[in-house]
Amino acid sequence: MSQTPEVDHGSMTEVTPDRKRVLTGMRTTGELHLGHYVGALEEWLRIQKEGDHECFFLLADVQALTTHTKDPAKLTQSVRDVALDWLAVGLDPNLPNIHFVLQSQIPERYELSAQFMMIAKYGEVMRNPTLKDEQARQDQENVSLGFIAYPVDQAADIYMVSPTPPQAGDQLLVPVGEDQLPHLELARVLGRRFNKQYGHVFVPCEGLVGKVGRLVGTDGKAKMSKSMGNSISLSDSEADVAEKVRRMFTDPKRIRPDMPGETENNPVFIYLRAFNPNLEEVQELTERYQQGKVGDVEVKRILAQRLNEFLEPIRERRAKYAGTDIREFLEEGTRVTREAAKPVIESVREKMHLYYPPPK
Ligand code: TRP
Repeated sequence: MSQTPEVDHGSMTEVTPDRKRVLTGMRTTGELHLGHYVGALEEWLRIQKEGDHECFFLLADVQALTTHTKDPAKLTQSVRDVALDWLAVGLDPNLPNIHFVLQSQIPERYELSAQFMMIAKYGEVMRNPTLKDEQARQDQENVSLGFIAYPVDQAADIYMVSPTPPQAGDQLLVPVGEDQLPHLELARVLGRRFNKQYGHVFVPCEGLVGKVGRLVGTDGKAKMSKSMGNSISLSDSEADVAEKVRRMFTDPKRIRPDMPGETENNPVFIYLRAFNPNLEEVQELTERYQQGKVGDVEVKRILAQRLNEFLEPIRERRAKYAGTDIREFLEEGTRVTREAAKPVIESVREKMHLYYPPPK
């Protein structure tokens, strides 16, 4: 029999509480889609609900400049779009432990980034598989130095809220999609290297990947992405969703509904498994599809309906927040983050001997 033990708050006052922090973020390059939801937001919401972590959610507008150079004026709108998407899915910066943070507004972060640039090695950055993938999609002649260095810069995002001075029990969690894991590995290496070379400042950061680390696109391609035109946005209307689902790829070998079909790698079934809470329905459709007893049209009709049911509360919350001044949330979150970053930067300067020489 399990019973919640009585907590004697009186006896806990002696103990310094563990500092459990979460820092994660998204590039502000436009509205978010279902891939962001299952790859990251679902996990962020779970952590918010648990309530025992201080969470810093970063709107990475500086990092957006690594790829989105053409139309700078769009960046402001993108910051708004992403913040509104976050509110719409249920992240709540009114809670005392939830902070929305605007990356560009934290001077301490740029400083830590410059310091990490000095300990990161060119070779290790160039081997980063996610960076290589993204680089392959860029105009090679015009890739900026900031783009190449962004995984290092991202380590500064994470470590600027490293509990300082570090104590046993402190945590720094980074819930992200699968593609971010090489960046986290680099951050861990940099934290460790700094600690060894200059003295102990950083707690190790830990990556957390949700149950669907990467969602296929509606065209069955490896990754849902707005720029690839294979995404369903969290802000899409009911009709848009229905139309996008109608055009989705399924099992390419199945040309008639009475043929046995493949469900494991079939995007329609991947989405059903990710977004349909009715497991029995998913199971039953899977069996019928495999036996050639249900057509694509019907499966898609059900998927569109379930996706719209999933998106409905998100749409409602979006409407509720439409008139909100998000600037207030961002200012407050950014202020709290700078408070957390100050002791980090002070320790780093001290350990790296970056200060005016004292009088002899
Ligand atoms: N690279 C992440 C993305 O592409 C965004 C990001 C910026 C991030 N800084 C971060 C993620 C720090 C985790 C931790 O969306």
